[in-house]
Amino acid sequence: MATGWIRARAPATIANLGPGFDVFALAIRGLADEVAVRPAEHDSLRVQGVDAADIPSTFSGNTAGIVIEALRAATGITQSLEVRVTKGIPSGRGLGSSAASCAAAALAFLRAFPKSRDLGIAGVLRTAVEGEAAVSGRHYDNLAAALLGGFVTLGSSEPVLVSRIPVNPRIALAIAIPRFVLRTADMRGILPSVVPLRDGVSNVGHAAILALALARGDSALAGRCLEDRFAEPVRAPSLPGYAEARSASQRAAAPGFALCGSGSSVFAFAPDRTVAGDLAEAMCDGFRSAGQAASPFVTSVDNRVPIAGLFPALGRRFYVLGGRGPAVGALGRPSRISPIEA
Ligand code: HSE
Repeated sequence: MATGWIRARAPATIANLGPGFDVFALAIRGLADEVAVRPAEHDSLRVQGVDAADIPSTFSGNTAGIVIEALRAATGITQSLEVRVTKGIPSGRGLGSSAASCAAAALAFLRAFPKSRDLGIAGVLRTAVEGEAAVSGRHYDNLAAALLGGFVTLGSSEPVLVSRIPVNPRIALAIAIPRFVLRTADMRGILPSVVPLRDGVSNVGHAAILALALARGDSALAGRCLEDRFAEPVRAPSLPGYAEARSASQRAAAPGFALCGSGSSVFAFAPDRTVAGDLAEAMCDGFRSAGQAASPFVTSVDNRVPIAGLFPALGRRFYVLGGRGPAVGALGRPSRISPIEA
């Protein structure tokens, strides 16, 4: 590898999107982590930036170091590395902070060691998820969006089956980011192991139409499909101000509202940034009315493909499949489906 620093960035992500627990995620613009690596005599790791003091800073304790160790084990590469993690994403707010560090570390490693690309994208996902597994539980949604960008859907993890499409950049996201943090591991620990059939049917139905709405770029329809009956009902009581933020979003005419991942942030879709700004302020006012400080954030989907350039000809719409069969395939444009007012 070269002797200088090799850098990579990965975006913040919003997982679940209401009904798509552990299945859906969006990459978003404006917040990212960066990981830089260079060869060294011994492994070392330093963390700087947003919430750095709250994040493990040992090589074996930080998600970036864990991912690099997993990639070395999977590829047989033994080079020791000096690693610098620059956090741009606040942690414990449901914005994919740990996944972004995992993804940026994996991308830096793939850049530094071209031989490691023999793992294929499915192999990179399976290896880099070890960072998530170590700190917050084995889930692929944030990580897949941080590596692939756009809107990802996890069909399965064994074998890996994930689709990736861009989303109309006019769709805006209104986010309220509370000051309090929630640990994903804790929020996964309280989940029920079974859900009633009617709730499963509701989530599958909403998730299917949500995917269609995002493929079409229809923010109103997407917003209508954010209802989750798996995770949100058991997680909401852990969020002071959740009910007030939800009511505020309804008064501000948001068609729907959901947790960002396992929280603590919440979001709504909007047709443009102006409406999103008003919605984000309204949701923050909801938190504030419950005595919780919160900051508004307006963004859109980050349609760049962070892993592009490391693997040949990915395009913007594709799927990744592990195991037997083609490893990567192109997805055609979705056909247009017109809304009918009833
Ligand atoms: N799907 C994960 C969960 C996302 O809800 O636990 C965590 O950000």
